[in-house]
Parts: sequence; C-alpha cells; structure tokens
Amino acid sequence: MALVSAKEMLQKARKEGYAVGQFNINNLEWTKAILTAAEESKSPVILGVSEGAARYMTGFDTVVGMVNGMLKNLNITVPVAIHLDHGSFEGAKKCIEAGFSSVMFDGSHFEIEENIQKTKEIVQYAHDLGISVEAEVGSIGGEEDGIVGGGEVADVNECKMIADLGVDMLAAGIGNIHGKYPENWAGLRLDVLKEIQDATGQMPLVLHGGTGIPGDMIKEAISLGVSKINVNTEIQLVFAEATRQYIEAGKDLQGKGFDPRKLLKPGYDAAIATVKEKMELFGSVNKA
Ligand code: 13P
Repeated sequence: MALVSAKEMLQKARKEGYAVGQFNINNLEWTKAILTAAEESKSPVILGVSEGAARYMTGFDTVVGMVNGMLKNLNITVPVAIHLDHGSFEGAKKCIEAGFSSVMFDGSHFEIEENIQKTKEIVQYAHDLGISVEAEVGSIGGEEDGIVGGGEVADVNECKMIADLGVDMLAAGIGNIHGKYPENWAGLRLDVLKEIQDATGQMPLVLHGGTGIPGDMIKEAISLGVSKINVNTEIQLVFAEATRQYIEAGKDLQGKGFDPRKLLKPGYDAAIATVKEKMELFGSVNKA
C-alpha cells in the first residue's frame, strides 16, 4: 500500500475512540521494526521523523525512498503515513517536496499571531497536495532533538483559533514532556484537554511525550479526544537495554555475533515488542 496522509486514519480513530501511534524513526532498523509491528498488529501507523533524525539519515529524500521501498518489499497492507515531527516552516515545505505524506509545523515558540499566519500558509500548501498538517499550541516540556519546550499549558482560545485554520490534528501542551517524566510530575491536565476538545469539536488531538505516561491516563486521554500518541524515547530505551544485555553477555564475541545484523537484532526485536504493546494500549490493533 502506498503512503497515505494521516487525515483519514485519525478521523476514523477519533470517531471510533482509539489512538494511532506515531513512532519516531532513526534508521533502517527502527523503520523496519515499526512497519513490521504495524503489519502484524493490523494497525495503522505514523512514522515520525524529526529534522535531526532526517539529517542523520542524510536527508528527507533518503527517508522517503527507504520507507517507500519497505512498503513494497515488506508487502505492507496497513495505512502508513510519514510525518515530520516538530517541523520548522522551511523544513515542512522541504518535506512536502520530498514526498512526506504528513507534516507538523511547530509554531508554538512564536507569538500566537505569527503561529497562526505560518500555520495557515503550511495548511494551504500541504492541503493542495493532499498532505495532512499538525499544529501546536502551548508547548511540550523537555527536549527532543534540540527542540526545547517550557511545557506551557495551552490556551483554549488559541487552540480554537489554530483549529479553525483547518489543521488535521492539534498538539496542545497539557503538562506533557518529551523524554522521561520526573518523579514529581503532576500528571496530564485532563481538565484542560477536555476544554480544548469541547472548544474544537471533533478535532483529533495529539499527545506528545508518550513515553512514561501511565496506561490508565493514556486511556482517559483517548476517551477525551486524543487520537494520535507520539512515542520516541521508550523505543530508544528498550533498544539500548537489549543491545547492552547482548554485549554484556559477551554474545558479540561468540561466533559471528559481531555481525551488525546479529548485534542489532535484540534491539530490533525489543522495538517490535514495545510498538505492539503500545498499539494494544492505544486500541489501534485490527483497525487497519
Ligand atoms: P517521547 O520521546 O517522550 O516518547 O515523546 C515523543 C514525541 O512526543 C515526539 O514528538
């Protein structure tokens, strides 16, 4: 199946009360693991790509080429979108030109007027080509690939103004943080989430910082309108842990255990297992 925009998959999720996972990719192993997990779970999936990760993989064209190649060679039948994560204005345009099927323009660090103006331009540009758009209001705390946020809780009126531009999904800061949550984290502001959904109608809402949010809080957020949940750090942690165990057990020194295809296999398997667990929790299994 060819790449699709995230619009229809998220509207279906919103209507049926589950969330589609966005899992960030870094390299071939990540991409193959996430696509394999999605296909085996019969779940739609969104491959998130930060501008930093795209640079690491040599650029947007490589990402698009690799993903399209895998959709064909792995016979992927579930809906898959490639989505720019926390994109700049220029980055979003470049991704669209390179063949991404979805973009996030993160204008949350601008004043609201500038965020509105720039989001509006990206929406026009993307929608003409059938590409979906995510916008952000408030900010996600912590740091991801050089994008730093103070964790400001979104203003409901500003959410409505951005939603009214016709974006396909809206990320609103509700106390969520990229990376691990601190011990004293106060939890998600589900009261604000509810107000945002009430103000924006059926707009699919996006929950960033999916790593480390307790399962019952995730489920409650979905019931209040979250239709897309982003997970990045957790896959990195399980990949690193499985790789460390392999090396600490001296397996790289046995036979041809040093072969990268063997060395990276435990991390790859762990990534598949974690993505499948998340799809189960988000309710997207058998929804393709
Ligand atoms: P985590 O790294 O906390 O899972 O957050 C991912 C994310 O929100 C990507 O934008």
